Amino acid sequence: MLSVATSTRLLLRRHRPLPLTGRIRNIHRTSSNEISILDQRYEVDGTTNITQTIIAKLPLRLHNQPAHPLGILRSKIESHFHDFAHLSSVHPVVTPAKNFDLLGFPPDHPGRSATDSYYINKDYMLRTHTSAHEVETFAAGQSKWLLTADVYRRDEIDSSHYPVFHQMEGARVFKTDKAGIEGVKADNERLSRYLDQSNIVIEDIPHISPTNPVQPTHDPVHSELVALNLKLSTNSLLLKLFGGGARDAPLQVRWIEAYFPFTSPSFEVEILYQGKWLEILGCGVVQQLTLDNAGKYLCYFPLFAQPHPSPGISDNIGWAFGLGLERIAMILFSIPDIRLFWSTDPRFLSQFSENKITTFKPYSKYPACFKDISFWVPEGGVHENDFCDLVRDVAGDLAEDVKIVGDRWSCRFLSLTSPIAVDRFLHSSQDRSQERVLPDKLPVDG
Ligand code: PHE
Repeated sequence: MLSVATSTRLLLRRHRPLPLTGRIRNIHRTSSNEISILDQRYEVDGTTNITQTIIAKLPLRLHNQPAHPLGILRSKIESHFHDFAHLSSVHPVVTPAKNFDLLGFPPDHPGRSATDSYYINKDYMLRTHTSAHEVETFAAGQSKWLLTADVYRRDEIDSSHYPVFHQMEGARVFKTDKAGIEGVKADNERLSRYLDQSNIVIEDIPHISPTNPVQPTHDPVHSELVALNLKLSTNSLLLKLFGGGARDAPLQVRWIEAYFPFTSPSFEVEILYQGKWLEILGCGVVQQLTLDNAGKYLCYFPLFAQPHPSPGISDNIGWAFGLGLERIAMILFSIPDIRLFWSTDPRFLSQFSENKITTFKPYSKYPACFKDISFWVPEGGVHENDFCDLVRDVAGDLAEDVKIVGDRWSCRFLSLTSPIAVDRFLHSSQDRSQERVLPDKLPVDG
């Protein structure tokens, strides 16, 4: 049974950090006080808490593998927002300023603590969320974009938490002049018309309320229109991801008031899945501070060959969302454990192909162990199903897959009916080691 934990991974609610009994020091240093991360050297200091296991994950970029569930999901979302810029190769090392300060995180936010985040040294850390790239992406002049990346948070060990996971940030800004606002209205009408005809039930809340306020520099009418655009865009994405056919039960979505330092009003979105409300994403109207900071930022973005001053977008208003890819992929592909995403086992990887959502078929937690059995085929031949029933009787569920390999007529050594052969098979199928093979010559039945 698929179980997806409902505990949030958004920065809003973080569990109380566990006290560190001692700093973890199993990092590989290039010299006494340097470590190498993605071919770049960094000095270590008293803040360093990144470990070798985490460093090893940095080059993997699962979301960029087209036939990996995370890559398939990324493409699916990108195809929904097809006219957005799609960014997915942004370096994971950021400054705490990028990850927190430029977004308006308070100095005492728990996310900053070394018990929650991976620090390379006091000046550099691994991004804890894709929002860390909002300022630079807006600064690069992008007005509608999706950015997918691996993010890093120190966390508990269980089937739904892993210290590396993948997020996608989506954002869109509009000019606040007449044409810009007319553009939002037109888009809202288009999206509303589409959703009105769709099989979706939405529990909504006010776009703005005293507890989820409009920002002081925003015109409340503009903020309402942008929040509505966010809700309509998100609902249509959820419909694309989770909506069934017209005859299926409608997709149920609910909006909840939330708090993020870098959006206001802010929301969380949940869907009803197997009788439980599951949190899917966090979002809101982008804090003006982010857009103002984008104006001050010198662009070192891959889109620009040379760093250059940002065009500035303080006269814009916009929305952003951040979603966890693993959470969604676990539902769509029925993947029961977040650790499976890191598997290099062909039994995992071969189950998925580009642009296809398929249901994961569980396999043994033991390493694959192949045993070739060969035997004389009795006169009149043997049906594959007869052989499979024999295997079932002998090996039970230990046998995961039985295939005819090679030319059956060239098989030697074992007689199908030989009690010795069956005995041998039983013995070998219980022995999980790859090295141990059936002896190449067995007594053959008379
Ligand atoms: N960055 C937030 C998180 O990881 C999610 C988010 C993104 C919320 C964009 C609002 C807007 O928790």
